[in-house]
Amino acid sequence: MTETPANNAPVLAIDGPGGAGKGTVSRLLAASLGWHYLDSGALYRILALAAGRKGLQLDDETGVAALAQGLDIGFGTGADDSVWLDGEEVSALIRSEQAGAMASVVAALPAARQALLLRQRAFRQVPGLVADGRDMGTVVFADAVQKVFLTASAQERADRRYKQLIAKGIDVNIGDLLSDINARDERDSSRAVAPLRPAADAAVIDTTGISISRVVSQILELLTDKNVNTQ
Ligand code: DC
Repeated sequence: MTETPANNAPVLAIDGPGGAGKGTVSRLLAASLGWHYLDSGALYRILALAAGRKGLQLDDETGVAALAQGLDIGFGTGADDSVWLDGEEVSALIRSEQAGAMASVVAALPAARQALLLRQRAFRQVPGLVADGRDMGTVVFADAVQKVFLTASAQERADRRYKQLIAKGIDVNIGDLLSDINARDERDSSRAVAPLRPAADAAVIDTTGISISRVVSQILELLTDKNVNTQ
């Protein structure tokens, strides 16, 4: 058997709005399959943080794209989900609601998206990649072996986020969370480039009221149906 070249490694694309469970589900799938994991949202979050630190306006397309080209980003591997910018751990910094909202602004800049494209594709390595984001199945890995679009009602996503933040000791207002989620959905879905939408060939899974383990096993079944080895 010939060895699969790195750029032909199978990709499982998991897209959907914030709070639909993509991160948790994707990490569990990557661990179960023994595949690599790409948290593409973290790239946009880091880019927004770096832009803020450089004093750039978040809508300065040329400046933000140039910054994206040269960013020194590091990710932990396996169970280590730490994220690094210029040798500094920024895992907690990029996870705030504000960092998410800022990421959504830089993510609307076509040149910034283009600048991050090759960096994302470089994560495609044998034995496979679970890629988590908004445009994994539509743009970055349009040839993914399986595309999944995870959704959940805005209320459920706000409730989940609320519980996560409260568990971390961060005090938030559920009404504010819900309006932030709606604003971010609107910005991500209405942008001209790579808007948030399911790929035509994606399996759409509504996770409202469904357990994480059920969603994970449903996706593993989809892979098995495509003759992908999930053992
Ligand atoms: O998945 P997340 O919440 O970490 O993503 C943060 C923002 O980054 C989100 O509002 C939209 C943007 N994003 C994107 O445009 N494309 C991706 N593939 C991933 C995230």
